[in-house]
Amino acid sequence: MSASHGPYLPPRPSSPDISAPHRSRLNADVERFARTGLPIDLEGYLQDAYDLDVSGSYGGRPIRNPWGLASGQLSMRTRQVGEAIDSGLGFVVLKTVIAQDRQGEQSMRAWAIKASRMTVEPIVGRRTRERGWTVSWRGRGWWQSLESYVRLLEESLAMASDRRVSVIPSVKFHLPAAEDEDWRTDEYAATMAAIGGAFVRSGAASLLIEKDFSPTLAGSDRASSRATVLRWLAGAPRLIRQHSPIPARVGLKLFNALFDDDFQLELLRAAHRGDGADYVIYGNRLFDPDRVYDGQKGIAHGGPDLSDRNLDVLSAFQAERGPGDPRLDISGTGNIDSGRMAVEYALRGCSSFQMHTLFQLPSEAFSMKQGSKFARALHRLLFDPADGFIAWMLHAARRLGTKHRLLDVARLANSHRPEELRAALGGVARTGERGASAR
Ligand SMILES: Cc1cc2nc3c(=O)[nH]c(=O)nc-3n(C[C@H](O)[C@H](O)[C@H](O)COP(=O)(O)O)c2cc1C
Repeated sequence: MSASHGPYLPPRPSSPDISAPHRSRLNADVERFARTGLPIDLEGYLQDAYDLDVSGSYGGRPIRNPWGLASGQLSMRTRQVGEAIDSGLGFVVLKTVIAQDRQGEQSMRAWAIKASRMTVEPIVGRRTRERGWTVSWRGRGWWQSLESYVRLLEESLAMASDRRVSVIPSVKFHLPAAEDEDWRTDEYAATMAAIGGAFVRSGAASLLIEKDFSPTLAGSDRASSRATVLRWLAGAPRLIRQHSPIPARVGLKLFNALFDDDFQLELLRAAHRGDGADYVIYGNRLFDPDRVYDGQKGIAHGGPDLSDRNLDVLSAFQAERGPGDPRLDISGTGNIDSGRMAVEYALRGCSSFQMHTLFQLPSEAFSMKQGSKFARALHRLLFDPADGFIAWMLHAARRLGTKHRLLDVARLANSHRPEELRAALGGVARTGERGASAR
């Protein structure tokens, strides 16, 4: 692999560099599967047809494929989770529940409000001028009882158990608003007893859990001090593990704070420090204090600005890691609307991808006209000949000299500088150059 240093960035190729037989197979497959639906053994098919191993890793555990349903409005009901599993996703993260103590008190109850109206809207990236989509809503967490959440979890675990699909609860626990405020450990104890109980009853010996730091936190007084936010990252995982009835691996879903990129880097460093997170999800949506929706000023948004910022921060983080530094599993989230974008996240070390907006796009966005939104999205993510995962993984593997294996490509990010990878790839990166000019 050739190495390149300095500011030179090769032009982004307009089409993936793949063999002629693979190209014609892809052109045939995209049309065929749009008509017939995806193959039942999707992973087996990709291995046979493209020698492509899509095994991923989430929270340090193997997953059959890297595609996940991110926490949100699409994982609130058993039927939705069942549809996601049946459609072939590799993991499902349930909607974020708000923790409570034994009396049912919730310190974060401001996040437990119902907001049903959502609008899927086009959005243009401020820097790249690329077009994408965002979902506007006055979003918050689970507003029903903890008992009903535990039921959803149990039913989801039961459906997933013989399908090799991971189900992950997501919780917003108490976070002290000031440096001298104590942690409300009662909330951690009562909520982990309930959630851990569901795993124990399902026969699991351990559990995975996402700790949500939602983008709306960025707009709250709680997150106005950098030191307070950093204290959360050190303290919350320990409390979750301590109060879980079975061994728990804790993923911190990092948010985009209102501070600068250097602070985002600081968050990633903090998550990797000491006995903090077991894995990381990077990174939740951007908060715009001036954006108005449904009478509310200050809402979260996604789209090209989100992936632009996330990729840039992940690149900077990879660049500063030394060979002996700890590296946690990173699950990428944020405007993953194509397989090509997923490869961008993989090239920055992500071994799984979780989407929300993509599954909410209007039907016109998908060339497959049958099946669930999850199946249509998978079809688009994988088989799109211009922007799909198969095409760009084969391109990346060919240029980097690796096998057609997602985990090999993701691992390269741990041993090479981001600009080296970009140079070797002929600039797969559609974004992520912001740092080169800004820093
Ligand atoms: C309508 C909606 C609801 C969401 N609810 C949650 C939530 O409850 N917990 C959470 O951790 N993330 C939540 N998210 C963030 C998503 O899980 C995801 O990480 C983020 O939107 C970036 O991915 P995307 O660009 O594919 O949407 C929500 C996002 C949307 C659009």
